[in-house]
Amino acid sequence: MRLDIITVHPPLLESPFSHSILKRAIDKGLVEVNVINLRDYAHNKHRSVDDYAYGGGAGMVMMIEPIAVCIDELKSQRSYDEIIYMSPDGELFDQSLANQLSLKKNLILLCGHYKGVDERVREHFITREISIGNYVLSGGELAAAVVADAVIRLLPGVLGDETSALSDSFQDNFIAPPVYTRPADFKGWKIPDILLSGHEANIAQWRYDQSLARTKVRRPELLKKH
Ligand code: ADE
Repeated sequence: MRLDIITVHPPLLESPFSHSILKRAIDKGLVEVNVINLRDYAHNKHRSVDDYAYGGGAGMVMMIEPIAVCIDELKSQRSYDEIIYMSPDGELFDQSLANQLSLKKNLILLCGHYKGVDERVREHFITREISIGNYVLSGGELAAAVVADAVIRLLPGVLGDETSALSDSFQDNFIAPPVYTRPADFKGWKIPDILLSGHEANIAQWRYDQSLARTKVRRPELLKKH
């Protein structure tokens, strides 16, 4: 998979891809992540990427021209499955969308800033808009990092234990069961006996029951999707 992330603040996207699982995925060649500085495509005097809104009002708007030049250049090099605009008014990101995106080959993520992008960018370049939640961030960078993380960890070979992504919370619309590690008794707080029984089938059943019970209490709306 290749992810091209277009941003006016490249440093915001350095850390998420420089550590842990995402770094390993990149080092192993399982994903290529390119952070592209939109200012490099601003061919005006001040390399500006934003301007005042037509019709007035507070807040700047990201101009179409640098974005068009950037996306056209990328598209001339390869074809893209989706050109995604990170926006609070996009479709809500969830595990199912992460699964869908993990099957794609080339993706562009465009990070918005200020009051957003000139509407013509959305009309003519963007194939999908994604929001990571019903709140407004200062820009799309952190949202793009969230989407990239959720997608990249699903790529084959990224997680050491191939099954561990499958048992994540939400992968089957269930919340994950509780987990414990040593010590088995911490100041009298004991772990459930079943986990020490060594009986794999009973443990699997217990985990399933716990997942279901937790989902019913904490996130009943997930069960309706079943
Ligand atoms: N940009 C600003 N807020 C956002 C959000 N909630 N999701 C995606 N992109 C955003």
